[in-house]
Amino acid sequence: MKQASDDVTTPLDKANDMRPETTLQQSGSTGFVELSGLSKNYGSQAVVNNISLSIEKGMLVCLLGPSGCGKTTTLRLIAGFVEPDAGEIRVGGRCISAPGKCEAPERRNMSMIFQSYALWPHMTVYENVAYGLRLRKLPKSDIAKRTDTILAATRLDALAQRYPGELSGGQQQRVSLARALVIEPETLLLDEPLSNLDANLREEMRFEIRRLHDKYRYTTVYVTHDQAEAMTTANMIVVMNQGTIEQAGSPKDIYERPRTEFVARFIGGTNIFKGRWDGVDAVDCGGGLVLRCGSGDYDSQGDTSVSVRHHDIGISTSAPGSTETNCISGVVTRQVYLGASRDYLVLLESGETVRAIASADVAIAEGTTVWLRFPPQHCRALAH
Ligand SMILES: Nc1ncnc2c1ncn2[C@@H]1O[C@H](COP(=O)(O)OP(=O)(O)OP(=O)(O)O)[C@@H](O)[C@H]1O
Ligand SMILES: [Mg+2]
Repeated sequence: MKQASDDVTTPLDKANDMRPETTLQQSGSTGFVELSGLSKNYGSQAVVNNISLSIEKGMLVCLLGPSGCGKTTTLRLIAGFVEPDAGEIRVGGRCISAPGKCEAPERRNMSMIFQSYALWPHMTVYENVAYGLRLRKLPKSDIAKRTDTILAATRLDALAQRYPGELSGGQQQRVSLARALVIEPETLLLDEPLSNLDANLREEMRFEIRRLHDKYRYTTVYVTHDQAEAMTTANMIVVMNQGTIEQAGSPKDIYERPRTEFVARFIGGTNIFKGRWDGVDAVDCGGGLVLRCGSGDYDSQGDTSVSVRHHDIGISTSAPGSTETNCISGVVTRQVYLGASRDYLVLLESGETVRAIASADVAIAEGTTVWLRFPPQHCRALAH
């Protein structure tokens, strides 16, 4: 396998870039929460299949993947609600889960928010949130102070005296979030905590979770299938597929340097061109499309895919110069104005359709012949 340089220069969210990255280590790891060779089967299905992950103290890790890939099961394994069939979980160097040896969930100093929030129906919002602190027998004044702070942070102060039955689904979810945060656990486990909120509130709450995390620094495992949520909140994103880890890395790493077609498609949206490596620095995708790639892996056997993100493709009616490479012509079959951008579908002579997102002022009518340009630094070769 030949490795090209990883010098992609996509514009970046600087805040993401500056977030400390946590590490994935397969062995000899020194993380605070460590999963090693963890597996769980239901019947003949390997729901979690030999996953290893090391999470440093104070980091926020997102498990990201499509429905049914094993995210919730992984979280339940960490929380202690499910016993592994193989492998082990260590926290602070101490084994808390292994086959036949599982410490009880309440002894793990973890807080978990379930996909379906489980609130006490006979308690008000305030009482639900304060409950965990009362159990811990904190002084009354501390309970009041911490409960008020978290109710304000989650914008529940005006609803403090309501009962869960008098709240919308999204409001109940915020109560469950507040209830988990208020006890300031060592490890926080969140299972799709924002899935029932409307789009605006969800966006706000992502930043809120990140802010609260930066403030309190709980080691957090956050399950979601929403990539924007993962990009906003995580130090490390772990992309899962069918019970295994496809790739783990910082949001920047996962977005700019996907290692597989699955990861490239799942994060950020992309065009995938199948082709053959020419043995030097380009992939011949057929139909006249030859793509020089700025980064990625070339398969030594020759079969290689190239990933180019929708918004990295240039679209215009001006023909290329005689020495220009990484371009091809096609016909616009669809063009949609989206306010800040235009979304194009372009049909190539090979029959392949390419999706390109251009700025809103690039207005080209359907039926027009255009030239697509694929900057090499945005073409990433993917091993098969
Ligand atoms: N207790 C169980 N018994 C049998 N099968 C189970 C059990 N729990 C989960 N599964 C199966 O394991 C697979 C993974 O489930 P899991 O809940 O971990 O997925 P997920 O990634 O959280 O999905 P979603 O995004 O839909 O919540 C699914 O196929 C599910 O049907
Ligand atoms: Mg789930």
